Amino acid sequence: MDVFGHYSRYYDLLYRDKDYVGEAAYVAKNIREHFPNVKTILELGCGTGAHAEHLARLGFNVHGIDLSDEMLTCAKARKSSLPECIADALSFSKGDVRNVRTGKTYDVVVSLFHVMSYQTSNADLEDAFVTASLHLKPGGLFLFDYWYGPAVLTQRPEVRVKRIQDDKIKVTRIAESETLVNENSVNVNYTIFIEDKESGKVGQLKETHRMRYLFMPELNFLLAKNGFNIIVSKQWMNDFDLTDTSWNGFVVASK
Ligand SMILES: C[S@@+](CC[C@H](N)C(=O)[O-])C[C@H]1O[C@@H](n2cnc3c(N)ncnc32)[C@H](O)[C@@H]1O
Repeated sequence: MDVFGHYSRYYDLLYRDKDYVGEAAYVAKNIREHFPNVKTILELGCGTGAHAEHLARLGFNVHGIDLSDEMLTCAKARKSSLPECIADALSFSKGDVRNVRTGKTYDVVVSLFHVMSYQTSNADLEDAFVTASLHLKPGGLFLFDYWYGPAVLTQRPEVRVKRIQDDKIKVTRIAESETLVNENSVNVNYTIFIEDKESGKVGQLKETHRMRYLFMPELNFLLAKNGFNIIVSKQWMNDFDLTDTSWNGFVVASK
C-alpha cells in the first residue's frame, strides 16, 4: 500500500481544522481575476475531494485525479453525501499526475496542498507540468501551491506534534524531519498513534513523505519550458510577496 493508503483513513480527521472553504474561495478569486468565465477544472492530487467539493459549491465543474485508491474512496463517498446539484459537478478517477491523460481539456488545472512538492525529481515535476499543460485549453490557467525553498532553508522544519480526536479515536501525529540539502528535499517522518477510545488499544503507523522545496528560477524555467507564463507568484492565501519566511508559495500560470 502506498504511503497515502494508510494516511487517508485519518486524513479528514487530521485536517478537519484545515480551512478548505476559505482555500477554495481564494483559488476561485485568483481564477476569476484572470479568467472570469471558467467552468471546468481538473484537480491533480485531489485527495479526499475537499477542495473539489467547495469549488463545485462555487459553481465550477471539477474532475479530481489521485493516485491513492483510499483517498479516492473517501472522495467518492464525499460526493455521494452531497446534494445532487453539487455532486453532479464532481467526478473523480485514478491517475498519476505525472502521466494521466483524461482525453479532455479544461479551463483550469489546480493542484493544492503541496501536491507539486510531492514530485521530488526534476523529471517527476516536469512530467506533472506536462500533464497540466496537455489538459489546458489555450489561455487556460494552472494554479498550485508548493514549499518555497528560501523559507524552508531559513526556518528549517521543526518537530511538530498534532493531537486530534473524534468520538471513536484519538490520533497523535509526530512529524520529525530531515532536510536533504543536496536534493532540495525534506523527508518528513510521521509517527502516528491511533487510540481506540472504547478499548484503549493503540495502533502505530510510520510514514515518510518526501517533499521538494522549490525556488523561483527553477519554477520559471520548468514552467516556461512547458508553455506556461507565470502571471502571479505570491504567498499562499494572501497577496504578499514571497520572503524567506513564507513557507507556502502560490503560482498562477497561464498557458
Ligand atoms: C497532502 S495530500 C493533498 C490532497 C488534497 N489536494 C488536499 O488538499 O486535501 C497529497 C495528495 O497528492 C496525491 N499524490 C501525490 N503524488 C501523486 C501523483 N504522482 N499522482 C497522483 N496523486 C498524487 C496523494 O495521493 C495525496 O492525495
